[in-house]
Amino acid sequence: MKVYKTVLGLSNALEKYRKEGKKIGFVPTMGALHNGHLSLVKKCVAENDVCVVSVFVNPTQFNNKTDLEKYPRTVDADVKLLKSVNCTIAFVPSVKQVYPKPDKRQFNFAPLDQVMEGPSRPGHFNGVAQVVSRFFDIVKPQKAYFGEKDFQQLAIIREMVKQLKLPIEIVGCPIVREASGLALSSRNARLSASEKKTAVKISKALFESVDMMKTKSVEEVKNWVINKINEDPILNVEYYEIVDSLTLQSVSKWSDSKYITGCITVYCGEVRLIDNIQYKK
Ligand code: PAJ
Repeated sequence: MKVYKTVLGLSNALEKYRKEGKKIGFVPTMGALHNGHLSLVKKCVAENDVCVVSVFVNPTQFNNKTDLEKYPRTVDADVKLLKSVNCTIAFVPSVKQVYPKPDKRQFNFAPLDQVMEGPSRPGHFNGVAQVVSRFFDIVKPQKAYFGEKDFQQLAIIREMVKQLKLPIEIVGCPIVREASGLALSSRNARLSASEKKTAVKISKALFESVDMMKTKSVEEVKNWVINKINEDPILNVEYYEIVDSLTLQSVSKWSDSKYITGCITVYCGEVRLIDNIQYKK
């Protein structure tokens, strides 16, 4: 595996592969890699000739300075993990390499970015679109891989590719969970042992709620999930929305849409965790 720190180094290497007609796949990450990320990388390795993984904590998508500062950085371990799953290229650029000058672009993803994480994290998805479109421009992959763990992000990336008319196939990958049900996340590293045990209640409530759709209304299921999780004094639900999986707009009846997903954000102590569950897939 090769590690590149500059856009020029990476571009030159990829140009050679492109001339040889190799298929290039890409997985953007912010590092602190775990098995969730690695599931995307393994799929990318299996489906392409060349697998490029970026490890870059993107400052433009953080609206909270402490969150950016506290974001775990474990580049050496990340590079080792990427090697172990046969990744071809790790791209580990500095902020200056990614943004030689400040990115002033303003995207409009309405109404996808006006719900859930949108209002909670102003500017977040604009920053995600800036960095991902910049990487797409550098890597020019045929396929790019994103986790369903960040359900709204995946929908927004699909919309961005449509708006920019990019010839890139976006591949959504299922959520990887611990045996306990807790969705893997780089932020889990910030949970204490007891918080981690408590955080399991989030996925447990989501799983339990799926069966309830047979007998309860959308409103009832939504309230049940929120109340069940909030019963624990350490947990605090920021929102729970039951939405059309494509438009991300709230549904009021189970018959409102063919595809329905429940998206949640919960504070476990100080740590903000997200998860989701498919009611109709
Ligand atoms: P990051 O949080 O590092 O996640 C990188 C990719 O891994 C995302 O597509 C995310 O959905 C996926 N992922 C994380 N945990 C997962 C899990 N438990 N199961 C399956 N997939 C999982 O998302 C970002 O970085 C950034 O916003 C980024 C797209 C890299 C732009 O900076």
